[in-house]
Amino acid sequence: MTGVALVTGGTRGIGRAIALALHSGGHRVAAVYHGNEDAAIAFRRETGLAAYHWDVGDFDACAAGVAHVEGDLGPIRVLVNNAGITRDAILHKMSREQWSEVMRTNLDSLFNMCHAVVPGMRERRYGRIVNISSVNGQRGQAGQTNYAASKAAVLGFSRSLALEGAHHGITVNAVAPGYCDTEMVAAIPSDVLRATIATIPVGRLGRPEEVAGLVAYLSREDAGFVTGATIAVNGGQWTG
Ligand code: CAA
Repeated sequence: MTGVALVTGGTRGIGRAIALALHSGGHRVAAVYHGNEDAAIAFRRETGLAAYHWDVGDFDACAAGVAHVEGDLGPIRVLVNNAGITRDAILHKMSREQWSEVMRTNLDSLFNMCHAVVPGMRERRYGRIVNISSVNGQRGQAGQTNYAASKAAVLGFSRSLALEGAHHGITVNAVAPGYCDTEMVAAIPSDVLRATIATIPVGRLGRPEEVAGLVAYLSREDAGFVTGATIAVNGGQWTG
């Protein structure tokens, strides 16, 4: 059975690839965006999929947005918390704003979105939640105390919610991508990026579709015994 899938940060990068993979798997997809209106317009035009605008760091906006999507498309069966930002700086140069913007978008968003979606999943005794973490949440990265902390927290959040959902038919898993060919990674200083790619055993950046295929699998009904897992997609960069 398929149904409605909601992907935050779903109009660009890895989120866009996830939205397309879920659509190919038969879901009615809602992509949520916030920052980039032009990308959302292009996404709607190129894919024919629905894109909704709200701030996933805003608790009330998430409740209203989820109600809006469910009114338009039907009950949400799959939630992919993908929206994330970087504000890289080494700690002593990091502002409080850089810290809290990252925490709000990357972590508060999981609470806000799951709080809006989980009650319906519990009533219907079915749900698939996939939270996007990062290799840098698993191993740490200089310049990313904020981002790595938020992405490590995604892992604890996912494991805990997996325990709460297990006897209600709800699975919760985390996917931890490595460095992929996206605008976020393209923003890394070029010398740093070259050096980073040299540390990836596969010898290249990941493709968004390589992450999306795994998310699509975890979103399937027959993935019901996979829950509380963290699965890396990082070209062998970190295997711990
Ligand atoms: N390891 C250890 N220390 C490092 C370092 C590294 N890789 N890179 C920089 N530093 C240290 C420098 O040695 C220097 O230390 P001291 O002050 O003790 O001398 C300090 O950081 C500041 O260095 P700079 O003044 O040269 O650099 P900066 O302050 O302009 O920028 C930086 C530093 C923000 C870390 C920058 O190098 C950078 O952006 N690095 C990339 C970080 C990164 O990989 N981000 C991933 C983004 S993509 C993503 O997050 C997606 C995903 O999930 C994988």
